[in-house]
Amino acid sequence: MTLTDLQALERDHLVPAYARMPVEFVRGEGALLWDADGNEYLDFQTGLAVNSLGHCHPAVVEAIRDQAERLIHVGNLFYSEPSLRLAKRLAESSLGGKVHFANSGTEANEAALKLARKAKQQGTIVSVHRGFHGRTYGSLSATPQESKQAPFAPLVPGFVSVEPTAEAITAAVDAGTAAVILEPVQGESGVYELGDDVLRAAREACDAHAAALIFDEVQCGLGRTGTLWAYQHSGVVPDAMTTAKSLGGGLPIGALITGERLADVFAAGDHGSTFAGGPVQCAAGLAVLDVIDDEALLARGRELGEHLRHAVAELPGVGEVRGRGLMIAFELVGGGAPELVTRALTEERLVLNATGPTTVRLLPPLIIDRAQADEALRRLAKLLEGA
Ligand SMILES: Cc1ncc(COP(=O)(O)O)c(C=O)c1O
Repeated sequence: MTLTDLQALERDHLVPAYARMPVEFVRGEGALLWDADGNEYLDFQTGLAVNSLGHCHPAVVEAIRDQAERLIHVGNLFYSEPSLRLAKRLAESSLGGKVHFANSGTEANEAALKLARKAKQQGTIVSVHRGFHGRTYGSLSATPQESKQAPFAPLVPGFVSVEPTAEAITAAVDAGTAAVILEPVQGESGVYELGDDVLRAAREACDAHAAALIFDEVQCGLGRTGTLWAYQHSGVVPDAMTTAKSLGGGLPIGALITGERLADVFAAGDHGSTFAGGPVQCAAGLAVLDVIDDEALLARGRELGEHLRHAVAELPGVGEVRGRGLMIAFELVGGGAPELVTRALTEERLVLNATGPTTVRLLPPLIIDRAQADEALRRLAKLLEGA
């Protein structure tokens, strides 16, 4: 099928909820993608932080194939070893409590919000500006962005949002607060790292009022910022944390991970999902963790991230550069980020993402090497020098 055929099918049959780029990818390997005409692309977008191991990592493919040949679905009324092994691995690598599986980031956050409300027996949820937690009603209610919330009002009651500052969070949390939810590094709004003082203030405010501190690590977790979990940079430990995106190596999975205090808040029947914790996605998750939970890989991500940030800052037209590890964004002084991303795709075969009119985000696979980082920089330089 040609691109024109695909566009006609989309126009006639898909609800128009996405703005798609004019390319169909049909194959991927490592950091590379190929379109239907056989053109090769360098992927610095990774399905928005999903393909952290690159495309079709052999360990993930093998785990999926092996599990799919034996049992694809079994439901949560029975035991399933992959989900129990993955739960143990996730909890032991982070907060030490227990895990509840979901199918996506927004669902993992729904579970976290429900858990916090049940723990406090109701209460307000505090989120911060520039945060993004998902599109379902609870997560959307914690995502204070007018354009995303307004068409779907009324939202869930009991949510407030404040500036992501220590003072604002401290002032917002009181005896009626069930939880504070935030991303240690805010992704969708353009890679804004919250300062250690902000995270510490949120921790102290939650401690003072028996509220739950929830970190949304759906995008910034699992090695993206150069440590297995983003909270490890600050040393501020949340009561609960959510993960998704790269956990399934491309398969849909999310997880709520609790610390000890919240581990037994849910009772049987409180929350659940048909597909959550399925054997194939959990087998993939175990394979992903085997590769990502490796200090050498994480250290290389930190080094390459620093190299990319320094080099990008030298390019013409680039203003502020932000980020940690391989979660990077830069500002274009004269704007035009969506146009640059389109030109990068069509002229240089470099897959990038714009989070807004002035902001370009780089989310390369964690398995890239220095030569691929330099190749992406070369293509970016060509675009920006010619601009
Ligand atoms: C920090 C964060 N939380 C939640 C989500 C929602 O995840 P999903 O799209 O899997 O529902 C996203 C998605 O971009 C995200 O970046």
